[in-house]
Amino acid sequence: MRSLVLIGSGWHPSLFRAEVSALSGPIEVLHPRAVFLTNDEDALHRLSGTALVDDALISTARLWDPSPLSVGELAGHIAQWAVTSLPEGSFAIRTRKLGRGIDDLSCSRIESEAGAQLSSDVNPVDLEEPTHEVVVILAGPEDGSTHWDDAVPTSPIVLWGIRDGNSKGGYTGTSPTERPFFKPVTLDPRLARLMVSLSHRRGHSPTVVVDPFCGTGGIAIEASLLDLEVLASDLDEEMVEGTRTNLKWIGGQKNHSVEQCAADRIHELWGERPGCSFVFDPPYGRNAWASDDGLELLLGALASARMMSPEGSVCTMLPTSPEALGGPVSNHQVVMGRTWDEIRNLIRETGWQVVLNSPIRVHRSLSRLVVVCHPAD
Ligand SMILES: C[S@@+](CC[C@H](N)C(=O)[O-])C[C@H]1O[C@@H](n2cnc3c(N)ncnc32)[C@H](O)[C@@H]1O
Repeated sequence: MRSLVLIGSGWHPSLFRAEVSALSGPIEVLHPRAVFLTNDEDALHRLSGTALVDDALISTARLWDPSPLSVGELAGHIAQWAVTSLPEGSFAIRTRKLGRGIDDLSCSRIESEAGAQLSSDVNPVDLEEPTHEVVVILAGPEDGSTHWDDAVPTSPIVLWGIRDGNSKGGYTGTSPTERPFFKPVTLDPRLARLMVSLSHRRGHSPTVVVDPFCGTGGIAIEASLLDLEVLASDLDEEMVEGTRTNLKWIGGQKNHSVEQCAADRIHELWGERPGCSFVFDPPYGRNAWASDDGLELLLGALASARMMSPEGSVCTMLPTSPEALGGPVSNHQVVMGRTWDEIRNLIRETGWQVVLNSPIRVHRSLSRLVVVCHPAD
């Protein structure tokens, strides 16, 4: 078992925490964008493929509500920690602010004072290519993300630890326009990856990721890069061929099948398969959130998914109005031309219950609701 602190992208702190929870199980929230967890190697492997984790630290220490605290005192705490926690080798101190940071603690002064106090023959400073990066995080009040957050406000906190060598920084993925088959419907790789993560249940990987509206293969590509088996389908033959081409080009997991099929018939195409994740963005009508054009299609796909994998899970995205971004989604919020309450009940009639809903901004007049469902009984 290993403990670590993960730092989330500022784009959507609450989905960052949801992603980490789905992949790993229980987390301790230190700050809307910082969580602590203890995990086995399997979970750590899953966490290495996240969409919204920016940084990972090991051997961490923390100071809650640190003011008043001088830079010299903070450097002293870090130097004390280093006696038992910093292995031999060169190091550099790197500082990061989360939110508005912490008053009176300047990043450059921390770097020079802590650097001076830690420096020794066994731990020389090397700012260019250090063996260890000691990351000091000054986490203060959030400075107003574009997405509403349900996190209970936390006190300011200073965190530090050694940057995990496997931490790759924020995920961007391959640019969809570089793929051999591209259409404007292609999902942003980071969003596609996030949806695959959210479809994990309490830290268990799905046996297979199923996308019944695969389009150009945006979701199939992310699942395959995460070494998950993929079953993709689309009504449009051009999309089927395109997804096949893209999957071959990306060179991920070899175990994938792409077929032409209506989304409400996937149980007939693939048969019963336990433990599937159904991850998809369905087609919408012209007026997106205000019209229920695509609703029958969504419900048909959900019903077919339930027949295929009664123990599975779902992650999808539904169009809604930008007002949804202002707070928790109310029962009256319009989603696909109906109230959210109605949609949730219709989803339930297909055998799934909504366990997470979180709006994301698409553009000024459209938002989408990321929805995760588990079996209703
Ligand atoms: C929003 S796009 C999916 C985009 C995809 N996630 C990507 O990254 O390219 C929706 C897809 O649903 C397909 N579609 C429309 N009606 C369908 C149906 N009844 N059954 C299956 N696929 C359908 C369309 O051909 C389109 O490719």
